[in-house]
Amino acid sequence: MGFVKPTILQILEGPFKEYQWPQLDALARCMSSDFGRCRHKLNLVEMLPYKEIIMIQKIAKLVRNPKKNIPLVIKVMQQQMCLLFQNTSFFMQGQMDINPKSRWYRDDFRKLTGGFYPKNDDKNRQICNLKPWDNTRRDMLALLLRTIVEKKIKGDIVEVGVYKGYTAKLIHYYMPERKLHLFDTFEGFTETSVIAEKKDTNFSIPKGHFADTSIDRVKGYISQQNSNVLYYKGYFPESIPGDFDKLKFAFVHFDADLYEPTLEGLKFFYPRISLNGMIVIHDYNTWPGARKAVDDFFSDKKELPIPMPDKSGSALIVKQDNLTSLTN
Ligand SMILES: C[S@@+](CC[C@H](N)C(=O)[O-])C[C@H]1O[C@@H](n2cnc3c(N)ncnc32)[C@H](O)[C@@H]1O
Repeated sequence: MGFVKPTILQILEGPFKEYQWPQLDALARCMSSDFGRCRHKLNLVEMLPYKEIIMIQKIAKLVRNPKKNIPLVIKVMQQQMCLLFQNTSFFMQGQMDINPKSRWYRDDFRKLTGGFYPKNDDKNRQICNLKPWDNTRRDMLALLLRTIVEKKIKGDIVEVGVYKGYTAKLIHYYMPERKLHLFDTFEGFTETSVIAEKKDTNFSIPKGHFADTSIDRVKGYISQQNSNVLYYKGYFPESIPGDFDKLKFAFVHFDADLYEPTLEGLKFFYPRISLNGMIVIHDYNTWPGARKAVDDFFSDKKELPIPMPDKSGSALIVKQDNLTSLTN
């Protein structure tokens, strides 16, 4: 370690040039030994302000264990970049602490809890990215599905509003063992959608919006791992098959944006959802139809829709009644 101290002294001459040699000397001694136990630390604490002591501690750690700490420095720099852009439209949220890419990632906590995945689970689960970027929504969906698995909530999964299949793929790759029923026109908003939305909400929507997709394209994109993904093409709710009456559901994801499919979907699926099963309605804080359907439907129910802060603001409902009588 003999060469370390002179080298550190040279490095310190730049940023700490206002300090005297005895201070720099104490600093260099600390850096070339264990700062926590260093007997020169006391000198230094008296000589330097607290903020600088902290900074020195960090530099000391880096110098002593560069292999371990350089990746951390890179993460910190990335985070500082985020702070730089936080008030601009360029800013996008980073990762949760249970994501190994996070600066605060704790592997011991992940081992203890499973992180994004159920603990002690032998299934091959994957979390697919959403397009274009909504990591908050991706992480929320993964954690809700994790709860469904962990709590053994029974039933199939449904998505109303599939478009190109981004959220559908995430759900299927996370829970390949469950049946996933996918409802969409696969032709975007139809004439019926335009008329119904105007009547229900007085909101004008363009016919053909989301039409740049097809069932084959979605099948290609999802690339299903087994026979558990099932497609229902057509105007919802007319596309609900007759034998759905008998099914139970654990998780229903509404992403059709509009009033009629959301409200009719809630009427149909809500009574068939298991206790503690979940409903997520995307666009609760973006599309007037989705918002109104949720507020109208839940105005006389036990559950309070919880607003979630993903890009378009989803609403989350955890079913409180166990398969209430099928009155709707
Ligand atoms: C926002 S996109 C879904 C996006 C998708 N969940 C994702 O995140 O990748 C809305 C979809 O709802 C579908 N949709 C809207 N109203 C519908 C209805 N009444 N019946 C069937 N599909 C409908 C549209 O065709 C469109 O594909």
